[in-house]
Amino acid sequence: MPEARRILDAVIPEPPEGIERRPVTVAARVLQGGPVALVTTADRGRANVLPVAWHSPLSARPPLVGIALEQSRYTTEMVSHSEQFALNFPARPLLHHVQYLGSMSGEDIDKFEATQLETFPAAHVDAPLIQGCAAWVECEVQQVLPLGDHVLFVGLVVAVHVDPQAFDERWIPEASAEARPLHFLGANDYSTLEGVLEARLPGRSEAPERVLAERVAEELEQTREARERREELLEEVYRDIEEGKVVDLSQLALGRAPDGAPPLILPPTERPRDV
Ligand SMILES: Cc1cc2nc3c(=O)[nH]c(=O)nc-3n(C[C@H](O)[C@H](O)[C@H](O)COP(=O)(O)O)c2cc1C
Repeated sequence: MPEARRILDAVIPEPPEGIERRPVTVAARVLQGGPVALVTTADRGRANVLPVAWHSPLSARPPLVGIALEQSRYTTEMVSHSEQFALNFPARPLLHHVQYLGSMSGEDIDKFEATQLETFPAAHVDAPLIQGCAAWVECEVQQVLPLGDHVLFVGLVVAVHVDPQAFDERWIPEASAEARPLHFLGANDYSTLEGVLEARLPGRSEAPERVLAERVAEELEQTREARERREELLEEVYRDIEEGKVVDLSQLALGRAPDGAPPLILPPTERPRDV
């Protein structure tokens, strides 16, 4: 270790017990969790689509959003030339399509033909919009900023469309499982929103430190109760599996099946892997 680094490390305070230090590259995963987008483009007679996790709102007035595309992506070349793109926010049934679309390049294959994804025309841009998504944002490129190994395309939002089942003033976590967007966690892992937690502020006459401490205790109690209830339900499910009964896993929020799907029947003795 270089001397300067050793001296610096010696003066940097240790984090509290139980907290781990990780490499700086982990920051991208820490910031992850927003809804994954399928970015569509159309350029010189070709259309393409790739999943993008690195996107962000950048300004409210004017409405600007950014997508960070690695320099080598075929889409980077297409967006640079067409100066347009659309963000399509896929809903749960497109989980496997999303991962597949990120595993190959439009340079080698027509991804729309390969996946048979259905599209419809956008209102303002040439990029096609994908059916089976929960929201769509059309953008015209305003600025292109090369940043390290990625290029940040700053897009002016020119149109937004939403599926009201999934999005009202905000995403609706209580929407049916098929309507909810996919949140990318990294690697092959995704999640969906499972509920709303409403934060409450202390009243004007209340001591904030006391009220906030009480609310923390309340939240911890509720999460403990939820965990205990889930463990009880799991035990019931195991008993049913061992007796060869039909089991409905949806009540446990274990990779919940789409609404209307038939109940999962597991043979006796086989336990769900991710429990
Ligand atoms: C869930 C997911 C998120 C991704 N996010 C990004 C991203 O934010 N930026 C990027 O450049 N590539 C990202 N990728 C990788 C590209 O989607 C992938 O390399 C794709 O095949 C490139 O396609 P193209 O060459 O047709 O543009 C992601 C892949 C997946 C599966």
